[in-house]
Amino acid sequence: MCGIVGYVGDKSAVGIILEGLKRLEYRGYDSAGIAVLAPSGTLEVRRAAGRIKMLEGILRDRPLSGAIGIGHTRWATHGRPSDDNAHPHTDCSGTLVVVHNGILENYLEIKERLQAQGHTFKSETDTEVIAHLIEHHLKTTPRLERAVKAALAEFKGSYAVGVVSKAAPDRLIAAKHGAGSVVVGLGKGEMFIASDIPAILSHTRDVVILEDGEVAVVTAEGVVLSTLDDQPVQRDPVRIMWDPIMAEKGGYRHFMLKEIYEQPRAITDTFRGRISPETGAIVLPDLNIDPATVRAIQRVVFVACGTAYHASMLGRTMVERLAGLPAEADLASEYRYRDAIAGPETLVVAVSQSGETADTIGAVKAARLKGCPIITITNAVGSALAREATGTIYMHAGPEIGVASTKAFSTMIVAVYLLGLWLGRQRDAITAEDVRKRIRDLVEIPRLVEQTLELDTKIAALARHLSHATDFLYLGRGVQYPIALEGALKLKEISYIHAEGYAGGEMKHGPIALIADGLPVVAIAPRDASYERMLGNIEEVRARDGQVIAIVHQGDKLIASKAQHVIEVPPAAELLAPLITVIPLQLLAYHVSVRRGCDVDQPRNLAKSVTVE
Ligand code: AGP
Repeated sequence: MCGIVGYVGDKSAVGIILEGLKRLEYRGYDSAGIAVLAPSGTLEVRRAAGRIKMLEGILRDRPLSGAIGIGHTRWATHGRPSDDNAHPHTDCSGTLVVVHNGILENYLEIKERLQAQGHTFKSETDTEVIAHLIEHHLKTTPRLERAVKAALAEFKGSYAVGVVSKAAPDRLIAAKHGAGSVVVGLGKGEMFIASDIPAILSHTRDVVILEDGEVAVVTAEGVVLSTLDDQPVQRDPVRIMWDPIMAEKGGYRHFMLKEIYEQPRAITDTFRGRISPETGAIVLPDLNIDPATVRAIQRVVFVACGTAYHASMLGRTMVERLAGLPAEADLASEYRYRDAIAGPETLVVAVSQSGETADTIGAVKAARLKGCPIITITNAVGSALAREATGTIYMHAGPEIGVASTKAFSTMIVAVYLLGLWLGRQRDAITAEDVRKRIRDLVEIPRLVEQTLELDTKIAALARHLSHATDFLYLGRGVQYPIALEGALKLKEISYIHAEGYAGGEMKHGPIALIADGLPVVAIAPRDASYERMLGNIEEVRARDGQVIAIVHQGDKLIASKAQHVIEVPPAAELLAPLITVIPLQLLAYHVSVRRGCDVDQPRNLAKSVTVE
């Protein structure tokens, strides 16, 4: 998730690109850069770690001018945020620049091949490899667009790229495969490219949207589209009628809703390149844990806060089931002060979207003092928690703007699943065949999430009915217990309704006293090992006049006959089923919040990153 803006025309490119980048800052803000083809024919680049205002400072000191250029605001995936890793990236000879959004799975092998041919690299990014590979192809294919296509055809993974070159000074090249969107904005005597419409909306409302596998050659006069294998493409422009704020949210009313809908993509990005369905290999190259340390591990402790703690509870189950190791999940705010018993045999896994949560950092520091190896699962490359850890698993969710965590939660679950499988293989607790099956289960999930998102309209209607309730109870068992906690947390944080999440087995030990007069009870009851017991809970709620909202597998007639409201979700492998059942709970919280007129994306009293105790 990065932002890309390009301009070609008769105006000064710098101001237009900077203005566009600022509108895309929500897509990534750890570094930014711009490249302009100067009237003298030189390609000038300015880059800076930090927000766009840092880049503006550099441009004040060392201004650029030119009527064709490209800019980028970065959300790091490969290589920490720094000046060197900021885009645009150049080739060896400084002939061309590339900006990129996405993840290239095979960049390392291509990089090694190019290094052997004499290319030298200045950054840790996958993007720089694109620039060098285009340079390589330009030796045999003098036309820039052909060299770009030849290079892109070699990459596996996802990309949205923009290219500017001295070799073809009148054009921008843009291409896309699998990563976000690329649009070409049509002006009069000027054209724009952008990864998102808001970047160019103040200049034009007429855009051509690229599809996967397409390349656009953009000059001041027009745009020519073709496929990677040179088939011409005809596409009519579309007129965008969104207002600028709506455009920033991709047409969604709130960032939270956009992020809920981004989950299929975010989940795919988290496992992409890390699994081999053929061999059953799990590849987590940034863990930095040697085999001797892995063999010495006797238990795993997850530390986290809030939603990340709920994902950690699932992490505990994954590690127990897949790696056969004792595991715990602890609230970071408690763990840091508990003087817990731990040492080099305890693997501590810190889970945090922001990587900056003060309590989680405190817990990791406490564990480090005891000599524990530490893995951080985070969405923020180069964050404090990533720096504190022995190794990392990046979630690749892209920036999450809504305070209520949604896609970060899903990608955390994928990350702890991969960790469980990896540990299981390293310790011979699970066979390659079993891993292959579990990989197949995982690959199914994005499609099942898409299918579950189709429940949106039904859940919006349910929210209309429930939005005046003052209390909610959420019940789940096994892997659905953390989902009950997560559903309750989502509802309370954005709609300010009192909500409690409980393990179904605990109901008789207290919360059953609350059930009366239509109290909404969300029972998460897929057909899994806990099904019969959840059925018992549902009967108990009914007997006391509670209002049952049941989340069940498609076609479950039995529970349908007992619940007032039924949400049917597709079945998935048990360990991964939380990725499906959480979707209706996120949507329910969202629609209740909207109906109550709450501030969905910035609820009262909360902050996205809790960097203080
Ligand atoms: C989730 O919706 C919350 N906003 C909150 O609980 C959050 O998950 C928690 O503060 C942890 O944040 P982190 O993942 O950035 O560490």
